[in-house]
Amino acid sequence: MSQSNRVNFGSKLGVILATAGSAVGLGNIWRFPYMAGHNGGAAFMLIYIGCVIFLGIPGMVCEFIIGRHVSANAARSYLTMGKGTPFSIVGYVGILTSIIILGFYSVVAGWCLQYLMASILGHLNGDSTYIVNYFQTFSTNPLKPALWAVLFVLLTHIIVAHGVDKGIEKASKLMMPALFILLIVIIIASCSLPNAMKGIDFLFNPDFSKVDHNVILGALGQAFFSLSLGTGCLCTYASYFNKHIDLLKSATQIALIDTLVAIFAGLMIFPAAFSIGVSPDSGPSLIFITLPRVFLQAFHAIPIIGYVISILFYSLLALAALTSTISIHEIGTAFIHEEMHLSRKGAAWIVTIACCIVAVLCSLSVSSSSGLMIHGKSLLDCCDYITAQVLLPLGGFCTCLMIGWYVPRKVVKDEFTNWGTLRGKLFHVFVFCARYVCPILILMIFLNQFGFI
Ligand code: PHE
Repeated sequence: MSQSNRVNFGSKLGVILATAGSAVGLGNIWRFPYMAGHNGGAAFMLIYIGCVIFLGIPGMVCEFIIGRHVSANAARSYLTMGKGTPFSIVGYVGILTSIIILGFYSVVAGWCLQYLMASILGHLNGDSTYIVNYFQTFSTNPLKPALWAVLFVLLTHIIVAHGVDKGIEKASKLMMPALFILLIVIIIASCSLPNAMKGIDFLFNPDFSKVDHNVILGALGQAFFSLSLGTGCLCTYASYFNKHIDLLKSATQIALIDTLVAIFAGLMIFPAAFSIGVSPDSGPSLIFITLPRVFLQAFHAIPIIGYVISILFYSLLALAALTSTISIHEIGTAFIHEEMHLSRKGAAWIVTIACCIVAVLCSLSVSSSSGLMIHGKSLLDCCDYITAQVLLPLGGFCTCLMIGWYVPRKVVKDEFTNWGTLRGKLFHVFVFCARYVCPILILMIFLNQFGFI
């Protein structure tokens, strides 16, 4: 498909919101708090912010350059830009990664739908033990969570099948501001609980003695996952950018929004967790066992407010997840649609079916009786680990190397400065990051993780 007949995002704001919509999702609100909680809180957060600035933003710009320059799906973009080198397969690996991510992501998104339903029906009323049991009973049920996950993939399918301009951009424009406002309301509620200060201390008072190689790799993986980096997702979205989008500025704005939402999520969860007595390292269930208590306890004087906020929160969380799943789905759909000459709808169906299979297997693996475990970890945990902590950083590593060392400097500069219309003051800093800083840091983190340094 040539550049001229590809649809573009309608406006600059649309670009920022749609790409931020991809970045902001369960990665920020569900994954960030439980990773931070598991890895010591403030120290993890600082390393995470370092990864976003030094690896995330340059990595995003690299993906944007590839996507906008070739203006095609991820596989074709890498194939064209990395012709004759091993980089040419990065796009294909990204597409496979995206199917795995969409599979396990939909399971958690499905949990949000269940919690939305339970909020509406008033089923999340009870003490801490009741809430913990509620999550346990629901998530280990073999049928229900799998059905919710499939429903979520189907919802994503409907929007993706309608195309980038009509579906993706509109959904993001409404949802992002609403999510911000609601997060602030819940932060205030959470911080007003007794003993909330302990949670704030946990999030902002770093204790570096707990930092080991797992914490650093965890922060790196979290940064890549949260910024949607390393799957070809940003490259696919950038293929819909027009020539006037300032790539560095957009990457910085998106990273800022994304990081703010993650910090907000931490501020929402940790004060409440400490107040209620839930351990911050409770893992993937953290937000599901903490927040229902906040909604009950903080608003006990006027329960209807807690009831409404709970419904609003789970609706927005599901929507935030949806704008991310749309972008993950789009990676595979754009590829099949453009390369296999199938209609957009047909292409979307193939991705949907593949993702539903992964989602059902991941969902079943959470109920331990299914036997779908690897080394004592559920398939869901394994997919999460392999994608975020291995495949995404690897994708980002190759992308930076390709832009830093292989793609002609003129092409990179033209894209970076919008063909000389921007001053591009930071061009040399960007190239230095892409050539040295990003690849070396990612390599060191990997070598350190696997015991070589
Ligand atoms: N960034 C998304 C989130 O934080 C998840 C995602 C990962 C989206 C990879 C696209 C690609 O929820």
